[in-house]
Amino acid sequence: KTGMFTYDTGYLSTASCKSSITYIDGDKGELWYRGYPIEQLAENCDFLDTCYLLKNGELPNAAQKEEYLTSIKKHTLLHEQLAKFYQGFRRDAHPMAIMAGVVGALSAFYHDGMDISDQAHRDVSINRLIAKMPTIVAMAYKYSVGQPFMYPRNDLDYASNFMYMMFATPCEEYKPNPVLAKALDRIFILHADHEQNASTSTVRLAGSSGANPYAVIAAGIACLWGPAHGGANEACLQMLEEIGDVSRVPEYIKRAKDKNDSFKLMGFGHRVYKNFDPRAKLMRQTCYEVLTELGLENDRLFKLAMELERIALEDEYFIEKKLYPNVDFYSGIVQKALGIPTSMFTCIFALARTIGWITQWNEMITDSEYKIGRPRQLYVGPARRDVKPVEQR
Ligand code: SDX
Repeated sequence: KTGMFTYDTGYLSTASCKSSITYIDGDKGELWYRGYPIEQLAENCDFLDTCYLLKNGELPNAAQKEEYLTSIKKHTLLHEQLAKFYQGFRRDAHPMAIMAGVVGALSAFYHDGMDISDQAHRDVSINRLIAKMPTIVAMAYKYSVGQPFMYPRNDLDYASNFMYMMFATPCEEYKPNPVLAKALDRIFILHADHEQNASTSTVRLAGSSGANPYAVIAAGIACLWGPAHGGANEACLQMLEEIGDVSRVPEYIKRAKDKNDSFKLMGFGHRVYKNFDPRAKLMRQTCYEVLTELGLENDRLFKLAMELERIALEDEYFIEKKLYPNVDFYSGIVQKALGIPTSMFTCIFALARTIGWITQWNEMITDSEYKIGRPRQLYVGPARRDVKPVEQR
């Protein structure tokens, strides 16, 4: 068994796809978006540069960036009727439940008259999704804390606007800290795309039936929610809180190695990376920058995470199994420091991954060879048999 749809039976083809968007070398620990190493993009670009790159294949020049900003900013508002949708949820509903519901509901407001075979229509839908995700996620947070929704501010950059909608209230002035906003922008870049992971494969499969882009992204959100995938950052922070102290790290390392214990070290291991996840290094650096900006460089959880990483990386089990920290290991700590509640971590992941999902969807639609996905199976059920009368069953 080599993957979700591939069995080594000699007759099932590999259910993979060709893509020119993202390249991962799991052995070398390399990640490129359209050929650019993630380290260089994180250092020299912002998230909307990255969105433009993933969608169009090239980084924007100044004029293209200006035009792109305009095309995004005109879609940041959410239909007022959709704001009422939030009222249908319990206040303590998981924000991913709200996000999946509201994003799917966008189909009812923005897809009428759209033809997904028309690239211009697809471009509008793609821009709408990138523009509205911060609004939708921030509204889910405001709803959960019983505060009024804050309208988007098009005079702010993408990450600052998101922080404003999350943390501002009508009662007092709120100015996003530019250092923290830049860190959040980098977190978006690190999560933007990642080749054919589970949620992207879900988006491709859902999109291959011709479903509308909003429904397709809602499917990706549903898949990302799982703790083995996008839910790992939330699970990792809960794990660090449970470990509590460096003295208890060996106990949890022992549990992670125990075949009879279902416990896994959250934020460690990866289906593809058998070396360091390059995003984990950048996330650790971002985490340190944020904690330093906030005067929290001695943060208990950050110290615990670094000690856990050090011990695990010296442990023969983790070395033999090639288990390294992944993108989720530090992302919870930095998001918590930014004031983002644990329950929102996967929403942040989904907000950022929307560009990767929708770009991969767009690439598939434009591939003239694509057909509806129809993975086969290896049948291991009963042989053919006849129904017996009920008295003989
Ligand atoms: C994401 O696909 C993507 O690209 C996803 C993602 C993206 O950007 O879209 O990168 C985001 O999902 C990152 C992963 C987040 N999940 C977690 O951090 C949860 C904890 N990690 C594990 O659940 C696990 O590592 C997986 C699910 C991520 C991968 O599991 P696999 O496929 O079993 O990994 P593997 O084949 O490399 O495992 C080798 C061995 C296995 O033991 P054996 O069968 O050989 O005895 O290592 C074990 C695994 O059981 N193992 C772990 C472990 N991860 C794997 N043991 C302890 N702790 C772990 N975290």
